[in-house]
Amino acid sequence: MQKFFYMNNITFSIIKPNAVKSKFAGKIIDEILQADFEIIALKKTRFTKEQALTFYGIHSDKPFFDSLIEFITSGPVYVLVLRKDKAIEKFRNFIGHTDPAKVEHDKIRYKYGKDITMNAIHGSDSDENAKLEASYFFSEFERV
Ligand code: RTP
Ligand code: MG
Repeated sequence: MQKFFYMNNITFSIIKPNAVKSKFAGKIIDEILQADFEIIALKKTRFTKEQALTFYGIHSDKPFFDSLIEFITSGPVYVLVLRKDKAIEKFRNFIGHTDPAKVEHDKIRYKYGKDITMNAIHGSDSDENAKLEASYFFSEFERV
């Protein structure tokens, strides 16, 4: 048993409201497992406005910020902590470019994303951010 906050090779993901609403969460989770990411933690939740402002605070000066906050709080999501060797890089490659219109056809964002805002899924961009993002949703006392 190990606290995942002290694990290496983890990433944090969100199955976003458009994908949950379209009942794609099961398919996406299956693809995550088939791609050999281990699910360390998983739950269904919904972002509060405060959580959204914190989570996406880095984008507060961007023109798309308000629509991003509105979208991410618009319905339930699944949040996941995943583990795999080089998880950050491999998961971002697995989901593909931010804009589903610019994505190769085997990527998650192509298959389940609608547009650059409703792009189905999130993947952390660094080890530090993976731990920080996971800490917004899971207790450091949780063990796997
Ligand atoms: P994410 O954080 O969700 O994994 O996506 P990302 O790294 O590929 O993209 P990032 O630049 O971090 O943007 C965060 C989220 O903001 C929305 N976005 N909209 N309308 C736009 O031009 C635009 N650009 C970004 C997307 O939902 C993106 O996932
Ligand atoms: Mg990002």
